[in-house]
Amino acid sequence: MSSRRNFLKRSAILSSLGGFFSLQAGAFSLRGKIGAATGPVIISTWNHGLPANEAAWQKMQEGGSALDAAEAGVRVPEGDPNVMSVGYGGLPDADGYVTLDACIMDGNNQCGSVACLENIKHPISVARRVMEDTQHVMLVGEGALEFALSKGFKKENLLTPRALKAWQSYKKELEKKRSIINIENHDTIGLLVIDGKGEMSGACTTSGMANKIHGRVGDSPIIGAGLFVDGEVGGACATGVGEEVIKQAGSAMVVELMRNGMAPEEACKEVLRRIVKTNGKKIDFQVGFLALRKDGRYGAYALKRGFNFAVYDSKGNNLIDSPFMKN
Ligand code: GLY
Repeated sequence: MSSRRNFLKRSAILSSLGGFFSLQAGAFSLRGKIGAATGPVIISTWNHGLPANEAAWQKMQEGGSALDAAEAGVRVPEGDPNVMSVGYGGLPDADGYVTLDACIMDGNNQCGSVACLENIKHPISVARRVMEDTQHVMLVGEGALEFALSKGFKKENLLTPRALKAWQSYKKELEKKRSIINIENHDTIGLLVIDGKGEMSGACTTSGMANKIHGRVGDSPIIGAGLFVDGEVGGACATGVGEEVIKQAGSAMVVELMRNGMAPEEACKEVLRRIVKTNGKKIDFQVGFLALRKDGRYGAYALKRGFNFAVYDSKGNNLIDSPFMKN
């Protein structure tokens, strides 16, 4: 039997022991349909979510928690120099510095975050240390770097020759536009997990908007904007132009709308409607949300065509095109 099938079998045993049973009941009638999962599920933004999901799933197979899985998953694009919107190899700010934002949260309201962190390849792991080793939620800039070094993280140059070259050639275009999201078909990675016990966690990490003003922080490290998880309801994460997500408290709002009865996809769409309303008719930027309800039902919505997301559940690891607004 493959290790994945073993894992599913183990999850089924756990379910029968009761840890996950109450969740199964809610999702059972949705079995087999896109948008609903039974047992463990991982959902993450963009095509770089596929390898991230693999790593997260592997971590759960090894006995890791939802929190371990969320961290392990997003570390993959963080460490991949070909992903130019996250971690190592990320596109630099207007002054040529690669500055990283990340946060992590579990279903019990525990969270940690770092913003404008330089020279550390895995900001998500620093965010987890903030959550677990301090009484704070968020560390920024130099202080975040000093904290990371004190925890044994290594200082590295994150600006790859490829990112520098790409930034130089996009620079003129970027001065006119707010972002290049969709050009390479990815941006932030946000990842949400329900493990075999029905525990939930999420992680979100990015190098932020390319060519941003030095010191700019987007939505990704802001708890409630780029990511929010409530074990009683579900979780949500965001991608796209962070300023628009922050203005709506985007991910917390998606979760709140689900708490009040909206389906995941509808909750994502409602927050986007509010973004459209406050911006008037002309929308020349991308924002997308992902939502995962505690019963395993998931959904997504984007302002523009081009957003996709990866789902790993009992049906395998699949990339799905998100629905989008017709504006
Ligand atoms: N959503 C990523 C950013 O705006 O920085």
